[in-house]
Amino acid sequence: DTGGHPHYLLKEIAEQPATVARTLSGRLDERFATAHLGGLNLGPRELREIRRVKILGCGSAYYAGEMGAQLIEELARVPAHAEPASEFRYRNPVIEGDTLYVAVSQSGETYDTLAAVQEIRRKGGRVIGIVNTVGSAIARECDGGVYLHAGPEVSVASTKAFTSTAVAFALLALHFGRVHDLSPADGRRICAGLKALPGQIEEILAGREEIERLAAEYARHDGMMFVGRVRGWPVAREGAQKLKEISYIHAEAYPASELKHGPLALISPALPTLAVVPDDELLEKNLTTLGEIRARGGRVLMVGHRRPDARLAEDVIVVPRGEPELDPILLTVPLQLFAYAAAVALGRDVDRPRNLAKSVTVE
Ligand code: BG6
Repeated sequence: DTGGHPHYLLKEIAEQPATVARTLSGRLDERFATAHLGGLNLGPRELREIRRVKILGCGSAYYAGEMGAQLIEELARVPAHAEPASEFRYRNPVIEGDTLYVAVSQSGETYDTLAAVQEIRRKGGRVIGIVNTVGSAIARECDGGVYLHAGPEVSVASTKAFTSTAVAFALLALHFGRVHDLSPADGRRICAGLKALPGQIEEILAGREEIERLAAEYARHDGMMFVGRVRGWPVAREGAQKLKEISYIHAEAYPASELKHGPLALISPALPTLAVVPDDELLEKNLTTLGEIRARGGRVLMVGHRRPDARLAEDVIVVPRGEPELDPILLTVPLQLFAYAAAVALGRDVDRPRNLAKSVTVE
């Protein structure tokens, strides 16, 4: 039941204020400026002994893991890194006792991720799951974890599970940060920022028509470049993934900082760019990149917090401002709507894109 929406994908995008609220529900502790995650099975002392975090997942779960790695590094100041589970499991990985492994999966049944979990456990490592489906294979195989409570996701392309995964990582990073050096004041700031997310997502969804109009225009091109720096980079990767999965438009994601080291050669009026540009300490650098793209005749759609000089971007999608560490979560939503509308404009089978399955349970 698509709940009156033309596709499950749009229903699941529209559900995000509620699904994000469910992921947060009962987990924020404003008094101690932290988060409670009952299923983690890790006490404060054990958490303090963790020196590194390694995050594993496939597809969008991997990109959500990249967002998670940044949140953990920013809030807990513990080195964290995401890797595709499908690669990790085949390279005879070194498993360390002071590393916390995190497996990310909406379905909890992705075979590559499950195999990675089994490899870690076989070698004596500790792994927690960030999983949507209760009682799934990956959830059962992990030492503990965080359930998303986002409800069943039907459309092949992940949307609500993606944002809930990022929120679960923010909760984990907050909890982890507060046993390390995150101050109570910063903890409170992040609590407040998380509580504000559902309302802010609602605001983004209210701008859907304008995003649809832009997507129909950009969908006339055969390809698109997605760029972002640091917090914007996993957003750009996930945005490109969404666009290619459901519209079949070729989409390349690059760190904005890497453009001049290769892909700038591709920029021309035929290849527009979607640039993820939050109003953070990298704003000026990002605006310089936009200028470089415009100088080569590339059309630019900027997603960020304010309208820049009109010479830098023809089109702008403005999202509400929140706590800077949480920007990636909000910035993701307009890119979901953009991909959805591009796929609709091209008449694609939005919920069941060709060649893809919702979960890949075989090798
Ligand atoms: C892919 C799906 O095959 O599996 C993606 O098409 C999904 O949408 C990926 O992100 C991982 O799935 P899961 O269930 O492990 O999160």
